[in-house]
Amino acid sequence: MFEFQKLLQEAKDAFQKNFHRDPKWIVTAPGRVNVIGEHTDYNEGFVFPMAIERNVIICAAPAGPEDKIPAGMAKVFSTAKKNPALVKVSGEIHPGPRVDWFEYVQGVIAGYLAENPSVEVGPFVAVIHANVPLGAALSSSAALEVAVGTLLEAISGANVDPVRKALICQHAEHEYAKMPCGIMDQFISAMGEKDHIMLLDCRDYSTKLVPFTTPDLSILIINSRVKHQLSGSEYPERRAACFDSAKILGAKTLREVTMEQLEANKDKLTEVQYRRTRHVVGEIKRTTDAVAAIEAGNYELMGQLMYESHDSMRDDFEISCKELDILVEEAKKIGLAGGVYGSRMTGGGFGGCTVSLIQTSKMDSIMETIRKNYKAQTGIDPDLFVTRPAQGAHIVQK
Ligand code: GLA
Repeated sequence: MFEFQKLLQEAKDAFQKNFHRDPKWIVTAPGRVNVIGEHTDYNEGFVFPMAIERNVIICAAPAGPEDKIPAGMAKVFSTAKKNPALVKVSGEIHPGPRVDWFEYVQGVIAGYLAENPSVEVGPFVAVIHANVPLGAALSSSAALEVAVGTLLEAISGANVDPVRKALICQHAEHEYAKMPCGIMDQFISAMGEKDHIMLLDCRDYSTKLVPFTTPDLSILIINSRVKHQLSGSEYPERRAACFDSAKILGAKTLREVTMEQLEANKDKLTEVQYRRTRHVVGEIKRTTDAVAAIEAGNYELMGQLMYESHDSMRDDFEISCKELDILVEEAKKIGLAGGVYGSRMTGGGFGGCTVSLIQTSKMDSIMETIRKNYKAQTGIDPDLFVTRPAQGAHIVQK
């Protein structure tokens, strides 16, 4: 909470500095960590993410004459970027030719205006400030999109169904950020609940909130500081391979395929398609198994499934990298005796973070050991932090 208050104060100060008054509206949306269930969302499988105590905050106010903003526009500053951007708040809106940070803002505005006749937005000025690390697989872009949606709701007073909200934000990511993501990140940023991890069925968007309140356990996030860049070809390629396999196997999506069916039809797939499919089919099952384990208080089994998930992403789905493998190996070496139940890379892959389930009482020594050993092997200082499941997007002031 202290971190949030600090971030909030910084955001308000940045607004003052740029616009010489107090903001009228303040909204926030969190980043997320996925505990297990990777690359399953666009296959209509299960995911098990939680919102984290890292946020995007937007402070905004109606534009006045002193802001000198062209009609039908809003002026947006990001404290992470040099220059402000002008985005359209009315008229015809289309994606720009290049993906720039403000495209995320523009895409969500476009979606809200197109889908919600009750959303009327006049010219405004805004400052975006965040402590979700960028490109670290903690969904900084989804947090930005969902924060923008929340801002539009604060401005217009509209009540948008949160599932629609997540879908509009996902659409913005597809069209304006040109990244064909699944629904997980926008969904959990919009609908995360404090003290709960969310099992989401990406086939029908039904959810189950699993309480995570025991002070004995903590979720440790370690940023390898290797940047992940998902707008490259890898993510779309993985997605396409899954869709191709489903088609060959005569299924609508890989959600419908069992391990037995996959093995029986192995010959129909290329070796790569087979391994990609084995990851997804296995991961969907691991996710529901992990939820059952955590509900039964069987953290050892939960941890085991996290390690298996990592192996599958490394060997079958091939989305890990050397640094992430080192982080997981170091966690495994510490093992149960040292307070680590399990660990895996999280998010889209090719860099970013690992997520580990650990004993709170051993937190300091675990962090210290991994920091030291990772630095020794890679020369990189990792960024480590512990987080509780946090609240999803909400209006702070309106
Ligand atoms: C990215 C995407 C998500 C999901 C994960 C992998 O974060 O945005 O939709 O596919 O990768 O699980």
